[in-house]
Amino acid sequence: MKVGVLGSGDVGRALATGFASRGHDVKVGSRDPKKPELAKWLRETRGKTSTGSPSETAAHGEVIVLATLGAAAEEAIELAGPKNFDGKVVIDVTNPLDFSKGMPPGLFVGTTDSLGERVQRKVPKAKVVKCFNTVGNAHMVAPKFLGGAPEMLIAGNDAEAKKKVTAILKEFGWPGAIDVGGIDGARGLEAIVPLWVRVCTALGNWNVAWKVLHD
Ligand SMILES: NC(=O)c1ccc[n+]([C@@H]2O[C@H](COP(=O)([O-])OP(=O)(O)OC[C@H]3O[C@@H](n4cnc5c(N)ncnc54)[C@H](OP(=O)(O)O)[C@@H]3O)[C@@H](O)[C@H]2O)c1
Repeated sequence: MKVGVLGSGDVGRALATGFASRGHDVKVGSRDPKKPELAKWLRETRGKTSTGSPSETAAHGEVIVLATLGAAAEEAIELAGPKNFDGKVVIDVTNPLDFSKGMPPGLFVGTTDSLGERVQRKVPKAKVVKCFNTVGNAHMVAPKFLGGAPEMLIAGNDAEAKKKVTAILKEFGWPGAIDVGGIDGARGLEAIVPLWVRVCTALGNWNVAWKVLHD
């Protein structure tokens, strides 16, 4: 599969490495594709890897991962060319975190809207699936948690797209997903992230994931 990863931060590089190590053809996009972190990533990552501009990256991906700074998500899509998203599965990992008052962060959108919905509105012909936004980047691929990896919480409007993302999750070592419904489910998935930060701070451990317990 050809994968385009928009976002060259810890998340973008972690997921790109996951795809490359599982045989996919991955391009990571940046406004500065020659930046040192990406040159290092290219040197150190085995598999079919490349870097490119945001639009080259979005055009490359049959599946697109959106892993930019949350506040820049819509701008990043604009740079990448919204038409390049048409008909594609878009894995939206972004969080609308607001650090303007320092730590812990708040949200710059919520309750009656979400960044996932904003992203879906920006690329109406794409199939946006909110996924990975509730776990730390160190365990997004091959997750290892005491008691085992939980099912990932996902949301999106397109059932086939969610099936595809669930298959990717399993390829990455997750047991599966709990589908919380349409992309408006991103309101809840994003709202638990400021709480996630508080829990991590309380535990002194950033390798934390939510697990749903049921009988
Ligand atoms: N860190 C985690 O463990 C974690 C876990 C779950 C979800 N998330 C979410 O995942 C996303 C990525 O997080 P991160 O920690 O990897 O990195 P980040 O620092 O939040 O984002 C870095 C990326 O955002 C891009 N960016 C910043 N401003 C931009 C702009 N104005 N236009 C276009 N692109 C812009 C940068 O692009 P350039 O390369 O072009 O500079 C860079 O690739 C965030 O939304 C975060 O909330 C993070």
